[in-house]
Amino acid sequence: MARTDTVFVCQSCGGFQPKWSGRCDSCGEWNTLMEETAGASAPLGSSASAPKKTRRGKIDFVDLGGDSPDPTRLQSGIAEFDRVCGGGLVPASALLVGGDPGIGKSTLLLQAVAGLARKGVTTAYVSGEESAGQVRRRAKRLGLADAPVQLAAETALTAILDGLKAEKPDIVIIDSIQTMWTDQLAAAPGTVAQVRACAQELTRFAKKTGACVLLVGHVTKDGQIAGPRVVEHMVDAVLYFEGERSHQFRILRAVKNRFGPTDEIGVFEMGDSGLQEVANPSALFLDGRGEPASGAAVFAGMEGTRPVLTEIQALVAQSPLGTPRRTVVGWDSGRLAMVLAVLEARCGLAFGGRDVYLNVAGGLKIAEPAADLAVAAALVSSALDAPLPADSVVFGEISLSGDVRPVGRADARLKEAAKLGFSKALAPSNATELAAGVTVSGVSSVIDLVRRIEALSVKE
Ligand code: TYD
Ligand code: MG
Repeated sequence: MARTDTVFVCQSCGGFQPKWSGRCDSCGEWNTLMEETAGASAPLGSSASAPKKTRRGKIDFVDLGGDSPDPTRLQSGIAEFDRVCGGGLVPASALLVGGDPGIGKSTLLLQAVAGLARKGVTTAYVSGEESAGQVRRRAKRLGLADAPVQLAAETALTAILDGLKAEKPDIVIIDSIQTMWTDQLAAAPGTVAQVRACAQELTRFAKKTGACVLLVGHVTKDGQIAGPRVVEHMVDAVLYFEGERSHQFRILRAVKNRFGPTDEIGVFEMGDSGLQEVANPSALFLDGRGEPASGAAVFAGMEGTRPVLTEIQALVAQSPLGTPRRTVVGWDSGRLAMVLAVLEARCGLAFGGRDVYLNVAGGLKIAEPAADLAVAAALVSSALDAPLPADSVVFGEISLSGDVRPVGRADARLKEAAKLGFSKALAPSNATELAAGVTVSGVSSVIDLVRRIEALSVKE
């Protein structure tokens, strides 16, 4: 007897399992499993009886050293965007631009595509979320109405592909991939099966016709919307647009790029007339620093190829609670627990009965281990109530033994610090020879760090 098979597909990662459960076994997200009939993900009409096209004959091999010209890059003129893409958009490629709803993805891509269109590149913007009128009104507000962008409001993939094949644009924006649906599948629009099938079709279109296709994907932290994660491996580059909604800064970050470096960031400021580029992010992130206060340390970090200075703020306060609070914004809470444990075990600083708050100013998210020493400096400065000198920066990685380890690109970090008027640095000992207008005090261990900060409070 034929069984009617149903599978439960995770709407976040695309994994499937035969039974429903509250939590996806593949990615660990809660409440993301949705029932689908097993056939829903398979293309309609692709039954066993249908003859399959197979390639016959053998494949040819070529040398690695063969001549392949570098791809020509299409530049939007928005330097921050072009740099994150690895120097511009590459023909015959597919990109995913992900981010929280309302963060500014549509705005950024409309600005980029308008820049390209003004240079004579043929561009198409397909909106599945907003009507043509809404996009036009936005373009008018942003002063882009005169750019020759082809605009369409449509969600049916077959119609979109037919339109694109007729128009043959160089750049295509699909806003967003979650609104697209193909009638080749029985699955409902917005499900992982649809997202995956549409992304595959559009990627194939890009490779076949030489167009550059940019897919917009909404990401939510609770995985409520079919996840662009299933799309990540299909496309050539994945860019994430992030930022705190309450801050006006937005950061475009490349997490995968087949045509350029990853971890490159572009910094933007959301204003009344759309997104403005921020050419000097350090100045922006350090803007508004007042008198030196305890608990603040300036971290000389690297974001991709660029040095970026940010202020790390810590507050260590007596806790009224049985279990003290540990609150982190912009950094990894596991890493904070490690730094606290090292400070406690190696320097005897007690954080047990105290609340610890850590904040990276400006809404930047830091992932570098080089921030360890800056975090430790901020924590110690707050715990001892000893402000760090206003003209000093801090960087270095801390190991569990309490030693401070060297980090990469110390010269670039110091140069950026010097450029912004800093004259001192607390850094790993190997950075002391790098003269860049900054006097480097080599810190060998966390005990050394605590001693130096204690000395500051005595001097006051
Ligand atoms: P949008 O690009 O629609 O976000 P997404 O496509 O990622 O969902 O951006 C929407 C937000 O940006 C909205 O909250 C309003 C704000 N915004 C501005 O502040 N200034 C502007 O000029 C524009 C166009 C949008
Ligand atoms: Mg949008």
